Amino acid sequence: MIKALRGMNDILDEQARIYSQILNVCERVARNYGFCLIETPKLEQTALFRRSVGESSDIVGKEMYEFSDKSGDSVCLRPEGTAGVVRAFIEKKLDRSGGVHKFYYQGSMFRYERPQKGRLREFHQFGVECFGQSSVYEDASVILMLAQILRELNVAATLKINSLGDEECMPAYKTKLVNFLQEHKDRLCEDCQRRIDTNPIRVLDCKNESCQKILAAAPLITENLNDACAAEFTQLQKILTQNGQKFQIDAKLVRGLDYYCKTAFEFVSSELGAQSAVGGGGRYDRLVEFLGGRKTAGVGFAIGIERIAEILKTREAPQEREGIYIGALDEAFVSTAFSFALKLRKFCKTQISYEPRSLAKHLKAADGAEAKFCLCIGQDEFDRAEVWCKNLEDQSTFAIKFKEVEAFFKDRA
Ligand code: HAM
Repeated sequence: MIKALRGMNDILDEQARIYSQILNVCERVARNYGFCLIETPKLEQTALFRRSVGESSDIVGKEMYEFSDKSGDSVCLRPEGTAGVVRAFIEKKLDRSGGVHKFYYQGSMFRYERPQKGRLREFHQFGVECFGQSSVYEDASVILMLAQILRELNVAATLKINSLGDEECMPAYKTKLVNFLQEHKDRLCEDCQRRIDTNPIRVLDCKNESCQKILAAAPLITENLNDACAAEFTQLQKILTQNGQKFQIDAKLVRGLDYYCKTAFEFVSSELGAQSAVGGGGRYDRLVEFLGGRKTAGVGFAIGIERIAEILKTREAPQEREGIYIGALDEAFVSTAFSFALKLRKFCKTQISYEPRSLAKHLKAADGAEAKFCLCIGQDEFDRAEVWCKNLEDQSTFAIKFKEVEAFFKDRA
């Protein structure tokens, strides 16, 4: 039997309901914050991710679905959404138009990771990217926007923030950190030893306990920021506090992608296992330029839909009935039922059975379909130009004249 690939899931039934519930909230909130939809290809040139996510990151080093296409070009299934949006932004010359551009997107991302709870090889993100806005208010705004999404979905999560400095203070900090790491090299795990040369700040979030003990004494980026970065980080904290957003400063939060500067953040949930980040993001003021565009500020985030769905799955599903189920009692009236369904679907959810059945069977099917009303048409009803109807919420039954059906259900179904 042919099965789905490991770490890749089908989304249907209850999972699909939760999935669209999450997306509906995300899209509505994103539009309220002034973001517009963008859709970029799932397949891009490999070079795009190598340059943006970073050669030394785990994503590029180990996790990319990378292959040669039929003309021998190296292409890659996107492991994340930011790089593609930045590429499109530059390709459409928006970097030259100036002003602020705000995009939201959703869709599949692909990372060849070891699958486990909350970690898939094909997963879905909802993300936003804001270009051309260097004010720290926008950092706060995207953080508060993600907080609003989680609140509306009733997902409790802790916000962690950090500042990764800029092109002035980060290199100086890296040198300090590398010196510290070299001193303790022998006691660090193999991965950390390798990262001292390739990507030293990633050593900070090593999960290995003995490494963490050593790192407790490591210099912290938050204590090595230049004045401008330190002032912005303080202001970010002030804006969050003024707007009722709690946070923890985590000086070891470095994120797995290399393009960040200044603000980095993550929301983590205690309802998930080891893969506890429900979403994260930060500022990337150098990325547009790095990919060949004009220097443009950027800030954004992405959330993992499956991880949020995992939390929502444990909640009780709403038992609300919705819409109409319609069926015919004889073959001769299937076409009448069909015409009514088309009219009703202009304003409410309507499910139809093409199979003539008894009243009892239609009622059972309507109940299973979680409809609010069950409508049936047989010879008697047709002769009286009426539809038989049962309200499956209060169990009342009644008849409605053909010509009154639409008006009757307009506000009720
Ligand atoms: P990221 O932290 O790599 O950031 O991913 C964002 C979210 O995607 C994570 O917090 C997590 O919920 C989910 N996620 C990541 N990997 C997996 C996986 N293997 N299985 C299931 N869920 C996963 C980014 O991707 C950045 N592009 C975010 C960003 C946008 N930064 C600025 N703008």
